[in-house]
Amino acid sequence: MERNIKAIIQDMTLEEKAGMCSGKDFWRLKSIERLGIPEVMVSDGPHGMRKQAEQGDHLGINDSIEAVCFPTACATACSFDRDLLKEMGTAIGNECQAENLSVILGPAVNIKRSPLCGRNFEYFSEDPYLAGQMASAHIQGVQSQGIGTSLKHFAANNQEYRRMTCSSEVSEQALREIYLAAFETPVKEAQPKTVMCSYNKINGTFASEDPWLLTKVLRDEWGFEGYVVSDWGAVNDRVEALKAGLELEMPASNGTNDKKIVEAVKNGTLSEDVLDRAVERILRVIFDYVDHKKEAIWDKDEDHKLAQRIEEESAILLKNDGILPICPEKKAALIGLFAEKPRFQGGGSSHINSYKVSSAVKEASAFANVVYAQGYDIKEDKIDEQLLQEAVEAARQSEYAIVFAGLPDSFESEGYDRSHMRLPNCQNHLIEEIIKVQPNTVVVLHNGSPVEMPWADQVRGILEMYLGGQAVGAAAVNLLYGKANPCGKLAETIPYHLEDNPSYLNFPGDGKKVFYQEGIYVGYRYYDKKKMPVRYPFGYGLSYTTFEYKDLKLDKESMKDTDKLIVSVTVKNTGDRAGKEIVELYVSSPNQAVRPVRELKNFAKVLLQPGEEKEITMELEKRSFAEYNEELHDWYVPSGTYTVSIGRSSREMELEACVQIESTTVLPITINANTTVGDLMRNPKTAEFIMTQMKKIQEVLGGEEKEESDVAKEAVSDEMNQAMMDSMPLRALRSFNGLDNEALEELVKQLKEIQ
Ligand code: BGC
Repeated sequence: MERNIKAIIQDMTLEEKAGMCSGKDFWRLKSIERLGIPEVMVSDGPHGMRKQAEQGDHLGINDSIEAVCFPTACATACSFDRDLLKEMGTAIGNECQAENLSVILGPAVNIKRSPLCGRNFEYFSEDPYLAGQMASAHIQGVQSQGIGTSLKHFAANNQEYRRMTCSSEVSEQALREIYLAAFETPVKEAQPKTVMCSYNKINGTFASEDPWLLTKVLRDEWGFEGYVVSDWGAVNDRVEALKAGLELEMPASNGTNDKKIVEAVKNGTLSEDVLDRAVERILRVIFDYVDHKKEAIWDKDEDHKLAQRIEEESAILLKNDGILPICPEKKAALIGLFAEKPRFQGGGSSHINSYKVSSAVKEASAFANVVYAQGYDIKEDKIDEQLLQEAVEAARQSEYAIVFAGLPDSFESEGYDRSHMRLPNCQNHLIEEIIKVQPNTVVVLHNGSPVEMPWADQVRGILEMYLGGQAVGAAAVNLLYGKANPCGKLAETIPYHLEDNPSYLNFPGDGKKVFYQEGIYVGYRYYDKKKMPVRYPFGYGLSYTTFEYKDLKLDKESMKDTDKLIVSVTVKNTGDRAGKEIVELYVSSPNQAVRPVRELKNFAKVLLQPGEEKEITMELEKRSFAEYNEELHDWYVPSGTYTVSIGRSSREMELEACVQIESTTVLPITINANTTVGDLMRNPKTAEFIMTQMKKIQEVLGGEEKEESDVAKEAVSDEMNQAMMDSMPLRALRSFNGLDNEALEELVKQLKEIQ
């Protein structure tokens, strides 16, 4: 149905229009009956519905309706599976249809700058390409059901400490390449109905009132068509926010900010057109939902099963020296409270009231020979001698010990950051005591962000479940016993120590500002450049089968930066069980002095039966090779030879091929007496001229060529000569080549003319 939204707006009073720009209460937008504008409700996500029936709050305090908690983003990102994320989004969208929710808030796509961010469990990755791809798929899934999403928290919201006032001080390059890039792809590819601006400031300006962020970048450059909603309570100055491009304020401001909008229009400080445009954007999303409303049936049990499958395809097998999968006949001691009551989601606004939770103990007991011992408590981090001894005994009397460890709720949550990267001491101690009596020990982890693993070399297997949703118990059991084959890979690096992390010296800042000093060297971009040993690298994960890579082909040897490059590679399952492999494609820039060793630019996931092989094709385009150039304020691909690598992780390259790329962009060059000869020689416009001039200068001033003595040759090599010339400013030609001031001025003048 075609709606004449502009006509509706014309019929609205100024007060009604201002009122439309803020919520009715915590979760609902306002209705205007006489104009047929219905009341619609939004609700938290991202990994399931948190529809609050009664009193609203944004911290997960009051109960919401019973729903299904899917695995959180820290887990699902490790699936590297766009189709899976889409499937999850579709199921969530369908649930929202059934429950009359117009928008489900999420996905959250902020980059994991530090392992300490309390909200890392809700975020996808340290890598913007992966985060962007996962978010796009999630959005496409939800929105395929006629439900809107809210891509959040835009932008540079990478910590919880003082999140409502702190300023993230980030270079333009790091913002573009790392922090904004994670939002850019989902906006361009999946067009979320709404984007949620973050609480924090960016380089001194609140995200909620930053016209550069909310209008220039988001709308003018990326083509965003929906409305921007404030994070709950993120509005600082309502009128400035509206002008900058923030349409909807949530939750309700009790009418005070609506009045400010009315006043501003009346006193001429806010154009009514800006208000009309905001209302139009909000109404379009409301009616898009209303006009696509459909009957939906929500089957909780089906969604629970899906949550389990998603988790099985997301969990990461970090270590296996042949101990896994376990044979069900052999007696295994399942140890640790999380074996019985898993930690499967994080605290705060994304907290879901799960209608059921699967327990590993119960699931395994159905078919395997197991005993259970609690081992530790999570109320406080204290060694409970009795629980410890019971667990050690159970381990001693079994053939295997499987310790379910992880972070309790109090260790990580929305609202505050972690202060260290360790598991509770009582859990580390338990693992150490178990290892002493049981050599066949496996650790299963439930955590939203990496933990240090001091026992990693002494256990025989490690399975990382992250916060795996309400079906995590069943998923863990299926993976441990080989009913499912692990196929996730890490979406973030697990460093040995917190101190290794590139943000360590600048996290979380002094509360007023946090300096992103590491620039673009976030996560593996840093660890790999520093060749720093890490516990497990980005992109790493094992399977119960093995894969071989061969026949890497590029469809071109050379190309312009505007061309596309098709990359193909064959993957073969060389083991004896079916499995899925994630094929990671990395690109290395020739500009190694200032670039990461390599960066993830595409990936594919493929299911292979034993002995089966398939050719995978992936595409690369200008952005796959580009760096953000702060002089151009744009993306730029320096000419040169780029290496395309296929890896099992960011550290294990299997195949490599090269492509020669010619840039179609000429970098601007500022010409004055301090411009270097090297820059002039590299610039296509000035290269020939400067070469001729240099020759002339040499001829006129250099005199007869003299045979250099051996000592002179030793002192000044050709390489040194070349390097000196390359970085020599024009003015130095006076000192070293005898040019007088007049000649120098003339040279600069001529160069300016031909530029
Ligand atoms: C969180 C958002 C959430 C909102 C509504 C805020 O505190 O940062 O992610 O969507 O509350 O609950």
